[in-house]
Amino acid sequence: MTENKEIDKTLLEAAIRARENAYAPYSKFKVGSAFRLHDGRVFSGANMENCVLPLTVCAERNALAAAIAAGAKRGDIAEAYIVIESTAEASPCGACRQVMAEFMDFQAPITVYNLSDQKYYTSNLEELLPKAFTPDALPED
Ligand code: THU
Repeated sequence: MTENKEIDKTLLEAAIRARENAYAPYSKFKVGSAFRLHDGRVFSGANMENCVLPLTVCAERNALAAAIAAGAKRGDIAEAYIVIESTAEASPCGACRQVMAEFMDFQAPITVYNLSDQKYYTSNLEELLPKAFTPDALPED
């Protein structure tokens, strides 16, 4: 975990903008995320809750879905930002870690930025999801 990696303003601003559109009437916890592909394109997402609470989709998975719909393939994602506002330190949920593991290199930086104190840290899936289940475990055709 790195605390002082230089801020990527483009990704931070994209995640902040997406967070402003979060639909979080139940938890009141808005999350925005932005993913940059190696080709430079940026895709963002916000959490989208539902009155059937388990149908909620996190910001990270919505951003990834947008990237995939635009043609991103496994390994195309260079970096991710997640923006929250919390009095506690937070980190991506387990489901999002698993979904990020499907598409991202385990060394790709993942930064969580907290608007409440402007603190942020950078991590990666190596740290966030050790001993992950990956597609490599599945049989080949
Ligand atoms: N949430 C995210 O969008 N990303 C995470 O990594 C953690 C949680 C959302 C889901 C729900 O809408 C709200 O935050 C509270 O759990």
